[in-house]
Amino acid sequence: MSDSTSSWTVAQQRERHYYETRAASHGDHQQVYAEFHAPFWRGILERLTELEFHDGGYYLDVGCGPNPIVAFIDKGTRIGVDPLMPFYRENFVFPPDLEVHEGTIEELSPVPDGSADVIFSMNNIDHIKDLGSAVKTLRRKIKEDGHLVISVNIVKSAWAAGLSKVVDIYKVVDPTHTYHFHSPQEVADQISDHFEMVRYENIDALAEEMAELKKSKDTEATSMKGRVRDSLKFLKNDMLLREDLFLLLFKPKPGT
Ligand SMILES: C[S@@+](CC[C@H](N)C(=O)[O-])C[C@H]1O[C@@H](n2cnc3c(N)ncnc32)[C@H](O)[C@@H]1O
Repeated sequence: MSDSTSSWTVAQQRERHYYETRAASHGDHQQVYAEFHAPFWRGILERLTELEFHDGGYYLDVGCGPNPIVAFIDKGTRIGVDPLMPFYRENFVFPPDLEVHEGTIEELSPVPDGSADVIFSMNNIDHIKDLGSAVKTLRRKIKEDGHLVISVNIVKSAWAAGLSKVVDIYKVVDPTHTYHFHSPQEVADQISDHFEMVRYENIDALAEEMAELKKSKDTEATSMKGRVRDSLKFLKNDMLLREDLFLLLFKPKPGT
């Protein structure tokens, strides 16, 4: 097994475990989704003033998880793709008008080439196996005048950034993620063969609002296990890595 495949396998096991816990603690997923994920996704869609959604549009959510952002676009064809889709289908409920498939961003075989008006990759590009092949595939699937929307955690800690150039500290500190980015420009540079950045913004406040809402609904949050989990998360995200969530908008590079 190559190194990237084995770190991806570890990250996916953790991802699945996270959602197993959520599926078990949130009896009515649809209601919880509507209560805390809906304002978050709507807040993001409202910020994307450059995008116009229409009935003939094709909107693709890669690594969509069990709470796809495309469920909040009320026009066009909406598709979600995720390698964990069989597990999500079994444990969560998707809106009936949403098409969902098992698949990876590196292949996206259920999606015709040149079809997507907007591709969303929300909290996803730092979970994947191979960014290089993902970017080529996204470029092939997107329309010439399409948009790519990415939300991703940016590590602000200077020591983590510096040390990671010498040793793979993230393997120990944060094996949940296969990639770590240290600035929006680093994301843009890594996909610059096929996409150019339109703009970016820090949306951490929006993510914090959702986290607070989630906590207030989470029956597990007050238990000892829940408190330990929250403290570890705080230690990793807010102290060690000092991550902020960013929203980035890209356009495909003509002729690539
Ligand atoms: C943190 S979750 C984000 C889910 C959802 N987009 C959200 O923001 O709620 C990351 C998702 O990326 C998916 N993922 C991991 N590797 C992937 C790959 N190679 N291609 C597409 N999705 C992948 C995982 O299965 C998981 O559902």
